[in-house]
Amino acid sequence: MTILSNGHQWKYSEFTYNKNYSFNKKNILKSLSSNEIDNAYKSISKWEGYIPTPLILLNKLSKELNLKNIFYKDEHKRFDLKSFKALGGAYAVEKITKGNRDIVVSTATAGNHGRSVAWGAKRLGLKCKIFISEFVSDARGEAMSKLGADVIKVKGNYEKSLIECIRQSTENNWQIVQDVAWKDYMVIPKFTMAGYTVMMKEIADQINNEKISHIILQAGVGGMAGAMVAGVARYLKNLPEIIVVEPDSAACVMESIKTGKIEKIDIKRESLMGGMSCGEVSLVPWEILKNSIKHCISLPDDDIAKTMKLLGNASFSDEKIIAGENSAPGVISLITICEDEKLKESLKLNKDSNILLIGCEGDTDQAMYQKLINQ
Ligand SMILES: Cc1ncc(COP(=O)(O)O)c(C=O)c1O
Repeated sequence: MTILSNGHQWKYSEFTYNKNYSFNKKNILKSLSSNEIDNAYKSISKWEGYIPTPLILLNKLSKELNLKNIFYKDEHKRFDLKSFKALGGAYAVEKITKGNRDIVVSTATAGNHGRSVAWGAKRLGLKCKIFISEFVSDARGEAMSKLGADVIKVKGNYEKSLIECIRQSTENNWQIVQDVAWKDYMVIPKFTMAGYTVMMKEIADQINNEKISHIILQAGVGGMAGAMVAGVARYLKNLPEIIVVEPDSAACVMESIKTGKIEKIDIKRESLMGGMSCGEVSLVPWEILKNSIKHCISLPDDDIAKTMKLLGNASFSDEKIIAGENSAPGVISLITICEDEKLKESLKLNKDSNILLIGCEGDTDQAMYQKLINQ
C-alpha cells in the first residue's frame, strides 16, 4: 500500500448485515414505478444544459485495493448546482406546476435541496420562498437569493424552519416542495426521487458491458439511496450488493434496518457530512430500502478531509476530482472494508469486483471545501 497507508488507519464505526434482506424488483417498483422513473428521464434529459455527468474510473485506487474497477459518478458536474440534488427539487417543481406560472413554490431546506427548488422555479419563471434555519450559513442563503428566491431565516433548527414553511404556505396558498415524505405527503418527495434516478440511467449507459457487483450509497433521509435502488431495479440486468453509508452520529437507516422498523435518532453532534446528518429515514425510501440493502456501515468524520484531498490531488484517479464532504463517505467505506481482510472476503470484494460510488456533490460550500482540503 502506498497512497493509503502512511501510518494512517482508515476507520468505520459499525457494520451490520440486514437480516430482512430479500431484494424484490416488483416490490421496489411498486414504491417508485418504471413509469415514474421513465418520465423523469424523458423530461430532465430535455432540459437546457443537460449533459450526463462523468463516470470516472478510480483506477489508482482499484489497483491498490486489488479490485477490477471503481466507478465514481461525479455529480460536481450536475448543471450549475454541483450536486445530484439539482435533479430532484427542480423536477418536482416542474411536475407540480405543470406550466402554471401563477403558482408560488416554497420549501424548507438545509441548502442543496432549496437551491434545486429555487433553480427549478427560476427555469420556469415562478416565485419561490425558501425557509432556512438560523444555522444555515449565509453563503448558502445567498446562493438561493441569487437564483431569485425570497430567503426567510427562521429562529431555531431545520424542524422549526419546516413548521414555519408549512404555516406560511398554508396561509398564502403556496405549493410546498419538500424532499422528505410524511404520512399524507408522498407525491412530491416521490417526484424528487424519480429525478434522482436519472443518475442510474446514465450509469447504465456509461458502464458499457461491465456488470456492477457492489454499490455504496450515502444516506441522509434515504431519498437518494432509495432512488438509486429503484434505478437498479429499473435499469440494471444484474443485482449488485447494496451497502448504505451514514455518519455514525446520524445512522437512522442502520438503526431502522436493525429493528426492521423506522427508528428516530437523537442527533447529539452534527456531522461534517452535513446533508447526511438526518435523524429519521423518510417513508417512501424506507419502503424501498428495508429489504433491498444488504449491509449498512457508519463512519466517524475523521477521514473526510483527507479523502477529499486525495480525490482532489488525483491520488485515486488520473484526473483531479472536486468532491464535497458528502462525496467522501463512499470512498472511505470501500477503503476501510478492504483493509479488513475478513470483511472484504465476506463481501466478495476481489479482483473481479466492479464497485459503484456516488460522488454526490462538488464544492457546494466553497469556503468549507477550501478549509477542509487545506487542513
Ligand atoms: C449534498 C447532499 N445532501 C443530502 C444527501 C443525502 O440525501 P438523502 O437525504 O436523500 O438521503 C447527500 C448524500 O447522500 C448529499 O450529498
